[in-house]
Amino acid sequence: MTDKTVPRVRVRLGSSRSYDIEIGAGALERLGEVSRGALSPHARRIVVISNRRVFDLYGADAVRALRSAGFNVAHWLMGDGERHKSLLTAGRSLGFLAETELERSDAVMALGGGVVGDLAGFVAAVYLRGVAFIQVPTTLLAQIDSSVGGKTAVNTPAGKNMIGAFHQPRTVVVDVRTLRTLPAREMTAGWCEAIKQGAVGGLKLLNQTCRFLAAWKRFSSAHHEAKTGADAQVVEVERGLAKLIAAQCAFKARIVAGDEREEEGRTDYRSRRVLNFGHTIGHALESATAYKRFRHGEAVGYGMLAAAEISVRLGLIEASALESLRAAVHLAGRLPRADDLEHESILRLLRLDKKVVGGHVQWVLLERLGRARIVSGSEIPTRVVRDSITAALQSST
Ligand SMILES: NC(=O)c1ccc[n+]([C@@H]2O[C@H](COP(=O)([O-])OP(=O)(O)OC[C@H]3O[C@@H](n4cnc5c(N)ncnc54)[C@H](O)[C@@H]3O)[C@@H](O)[C@H]2O)c1
Ligand SMILES: [Zn+2]
Repeated sequence: MTDKTVPRVRVRLGSSRSYDIEIGAGALERLGEVSRGALSPHARRIVVISNRRVFDLYGADAVRALRSAGFNVAHWLMGDGERHKSLLTAGRSLGFLAETELERSDAVMALGGGVVGDLAGFVAAVYLRGVAFIQVPTTLLAQIDSSVGGKTAVNTPAGKNMIGAFHQPRTVVVDVRTLRTLPAREMTAGWCEAIKQGAVGGLKLLNQTCRFLAAWKRFSSAHHEAKTGADAQVVEVERGLAKLIAAQCAFKARIVAGDEREEEGRTDYRSRRVLNFGHTIGHALESATAYKRFRHGEAVGYGMLAAAEISVRLGLIEASALESLRAAVHLAGRLPRADDLEHESILRLLRLDKKVVGGHVQWVLLERLGRARIVSGSEIPTRVVRDSITAALQSST
């Protein structure tokens, strides 16, 4: 049974590119009809791109729902992990689309986390100069963030997300039940991104996120092994989760609608760039540890604390706002230790970050909890950055 009490979220974009995000426990069951409604009447075939782990869990349900809506379905599985989000993988999957004779009116579907979503979206953007794309995100991060907004990319040895395209999906189908099988660390990483969206999106969203997180933690520890049960409590918790994801998606949708392509000159608190809160230091931490120690969201957890430390030192926010953010990150879960990392190497990596404009890092800071302020690195003394990094990395959560 699908829970229909959660409203669908609309992403409003120009020239008939608007789309709905369908969210609910059991939403996968409706994947066929939702896809039918979102695609061209001429669509006959769908290629599902996924990985072995996710496809073993949810592939059969997804394929069954699509077939029952009359689609001819094939699937193509990529390797699991960030290193497979590459041009090599993209090339192989493009070969598969050509072999199966996917046509202009057909569609590519991503079933998986952000890695699968970014790669499949990129492939959909370039195959036949662009075919319809549907996102079925199965990680918390992908459900609140990466599946919405049309950024697609692959990595190259020169850097993450170096090659990509803007290609909006026709629809996004979020089944919160898929999170039942997501490892705890992946949940923590997703929660960190949810806190990020609250920290720059408004106190209401942040508080809603923290309230749910506290309840979720109580529930998870009480029901450690019963998470797959269908009892009333699980239904209730998943309904709350779906509502929170809807609120998170609505925020992301608003930002994307107002600044679809992240215009270079925009530095206001509603520009797409604010979604990079915590990412400047976050990326540096990932890079400093060769992408081995942190899940991306975990590194963003520390990155947010460092950006908030800078904000305090510049007199933008009160120390109490930093403490509230720290409490929120703490709720997200335990982060790997970071107090052994050298702040000098982090500083060096910051200068290489993609967000450098005209030789300066563009910092996303806070002017209060719930509102971002973008500040050029030229206005921030190196000593402030160094001290803030040191302080943030000491925080044991
Ligand atoms: N396009 C965007 O706007 C955007 C935004 C943020 C992040 N991203 C990208 O997203 C990627 C990270 O995505 P992610 O955090 O989802 O990681 P991921 O896709 O690597 O998924 C994490 C792990 O969870 C597994 N998994 C996925 N769903 C599962 C489920 N339901 N049950 C059990 N296991 C499951 C995956 O196989 C993988 O091992 C990065 O490449 C990042 O660049 C893109
Ligand atoms: Zn991120």
